[in-house]
Amino acid sequence: MYMLPIMAPYIHPHLFVYVTWLLTLTRCVSARGCWRDTPCSGLEKAVYTGEWDANNFAPESRNVAPLAIYSLQTGRKIATWPGRFNTTSYDTDIYLDFGKEVGGIVTIEYSVHSVAGSGALGLAFSEAKNWVGRNSDSSNGYYAQPDGAIYSTFSHTGNFTYVMPLENLRGGFRYLTLFLQGDRVSVSIRNVNLELSFQPTWSNLRAYQGYFHSNDDLLNKIWYSGAYTLQVNAIHPSTGRTWPPPSTAWQNNGHLGPGNTINVDGAKRDRTVWPGDMGVAGPASFYSTGALGTHYNHYTTFRWTMIGLYNYILYSGDVEFLTSYWGKYNLAMKLVLDQIDPNVGLMDITRYPNDWGRFNSYGYLASAQMLAYHTLVTGATLATWVDDRTGLSESWLQSASRLRDAVNEKLWDAQAGAFKDNYGPYDTGLHPQDGNSLAIVFGVVEGTGEKGQAISSWLTENWTPIGPESPELPGEVSPFIASFEIQAHLLARQPQRALDLIRTSWGWYLYNEQGTQSTMIEGYLTDGTFGYRHDAGYEENYSYTSHAHGWSTGPVTALTEQALGLSITGLAGTTCRFAPQLGDLKDVQGGFATRLGKYRAELHLNVTTGCVLAEVEVPREATTEIVLPAGSCQTHQSSLFLVDGEEVDVNVIDATYGPGGTVLYSTQLSGGKHTIEY
Ligand SMILES: *[C@@H]1O[C@H](CO)[C@@H](O)[C@H](O)[C@H]1NC(C)=O
Ligand SMILES: *[C@@H]1O[C@H](CO)[C@@H](O)[C@H](O)[C@H]1NC(C)=O
Ligand SMILES: *[C@@H]1O[C@H](CO)[C@@H](O)[C@H](O)[C@H]1NC(C)=O
Ligand SMILES: *[C@@H]1O[C@H](CO)[C@@H](O)[C@H](O)[C@H]1NC(C)=O
Repeated sequence: MYMLPIMAPYIHPHLFVYVTWLLTLTRCVSARGCWRDTPCSGLEKAVYTGEWDANNFAPESRNVAPLAIYSLQTGRKIATWPGRFNTTSYDTDIYLDFGKEVGGIVTIEYSVHSVAGSGALGLAFSEAKNWVGRNSDSSNGYYAQPDGAIYSTFSHTGNFTYVMPLENLRGGFRYLTLFLQGDRVSVSIRNVNLELSFQPTWSNLRAYQGYFHSNDDLLNKIWYSGAYTLQVNAIHPSTGRTWPPPSTAWQNNGHLGPGNTINVDGAKRDRTVWPGDMGVAGPASFYSTGALGTHYNHYTTFRWTMIGLYNYILYSGDVEFLTSYWGKYNLAMKLVLDQIDPNVGLMDITRYPNDWGRFNSYGYLASAQMLAYHTLVTGATLATWVDDRTGLSESWLQSASRLRDAVNEKLWDAQAGAFKDNYGPYDTGLHPQDGNSLAIVFGVVEGTGEKGQAISSWLTENWTPIGPESPELPGEVSPFIASFEIQAHLLARQPQRALDLIRTSWGWYLYNEQGTQSTMIEGYLTDGTFGYRHDAGYEENYSYTSHAHGWSTGPVTALTEQALGLSITGLAGTTCRFAPQLGDLKDVQGGFATRLGKYRAELHLNVTTGCVLAEVEVPREATTEIVLPAGSCQTHQSSLFLVDGEEVDVNVIDATYGPGGTVLYSTQLSGGKHTIEY
């Protein structure tokens, strides 16, 4: 046990308030467990353990203590936790730093030594450091109405234990400000404990199914900050944000749906389900934490949801679930097809204009075309998985192909080397980051083809030193759309652009001392302030920004699927692909698991020879398509590449065009373990 007396008399304008903090700190040791009485369904141990565990942000225990105590008035560190420090300054308010994004229910044990009348201990929360203070950062949904603080009140001396009411659960914060109200109040804080509420079905918050490790420490940490972001966004369905907001503070006891866990937009706010997030968060969850079950609770309608369903079925192999939703899925597809304007051949989104928060989302919006195309193509695959015999697959592929032709004919701007944002009366002359990135990601154009190369290069023109400025949301960086942009560069086989963008954008945030330094922010301004969408829906409230948003976790998927190069291509991983693109990386390894088993790869570049030695291991029943560039490996010029130390019969190698007329070689490997040199 440690003692930390902080004595701070100061003169209040009206009262003489004598405030004493005495922090007597104990480290809380507690067993692992799932959230309250939630049944556990997570793993007990991580599938892969190794040196990368040091990068995992998830705490060991569901009960955590802060790392350090600061004076709010001076910003000075008073003590590390637990610690010992006396202050003689006039500091009164303190804030506790948990060192990373956390969320849940705080318990404070304190003793009141003196109070005249009644007093209160106030608690205020913030994700970002620039919003610490007596008002929590904005989360309740009324932009202009402060979240304020919550209070534990007292009117006599003695020992108190304050447990935050469940409805005041704070889903995302790093900082907790504590302050006293009342006359002649003297309080000692004996203990502070936070019970983490996220990832409610896991007893071991570090038991990931996937991992990633490379010679680049920044990229490694970014990957793990994505995984951790997904964890803090996985919440119990009874802890959603209520609507309308309460008249004071905030309220997080809304019911979001069935089940024991559900993925929401953000940890602090938007504790609700917006299916658009699943376009990024779904795959990223699969490759990192492996928590798939959190996505399928809410498939009702629409393009992102429909794509999310495809991803879920692909990773899980749960065809039974798909079959049970097939009727609804068909209705949703009808709605998509109904929006195609027969005179133009493009989707007209006038009836359903909702988007990710960008400006000018209407008419024949480019991004909507790309989404619809992908919805049709993935729908055609789903139709084969449910064994549809009514020709839906062929019919949807035909619609997709007509849509692709119309998009290329009506929206392509050869001079700019990019797609226009809109068509006809809606054309504003703008070329968008979203529509162009999605054109490659969703296969409307080949990344390695001429248009794909032009787009990849055009996208870099929007780059700033801290990420791409989105032409459709000027002055802002959207890590949601940038998540697709990095995929687009990788599909264009421009890995260096993708890695550079991840480092400048996500790396800038991860090392920003004002941020959570553990999660991925929803968006920010190109001048480096946290004020995403301040002029596009958030009513100039800069503190409303969410610092842990699942839609920003694209680097997880990009690094695993494309840099390491290991991805799932068939139901539950019956087929997979190994198509590494190292960029400037020298050593990379990573893996994940499906119900068939483990998928893992490891690559090392020999800088002397230019050869890459790779090891790939997948379940026996899985087959792997490998795709390799024409190598710069000096040691086996007679062969294109070696598998298990042997030359490969050229008759089983396919050659396809890479960017700029380069060649890519591919072949099939049986399951199990193989070494490949290229
Ligand atoms: C704190 O104050 C107490 C009492 O005045 C004193 O005994 C102790 O040495 C001080 N501790 C530190 C770290 O200054
Ligand atoms: C934004 O929200 C914060 C925190 O809830 C509040 O204190 C502030 O008054 C709000 N600002 C504006 C401009 O609405
Ligand atoms: C309050 O708790 C402290 C520490 O556990 C203990 O020493 C003290 O006797 C308690 N006071 C009362 C009034 O119960
Ligand atoms: C790289 O290849 C050279 C030539 O085969 C070999 O001598 C050297 O040990 C290799 N380096 C590493 C780090 O494997």
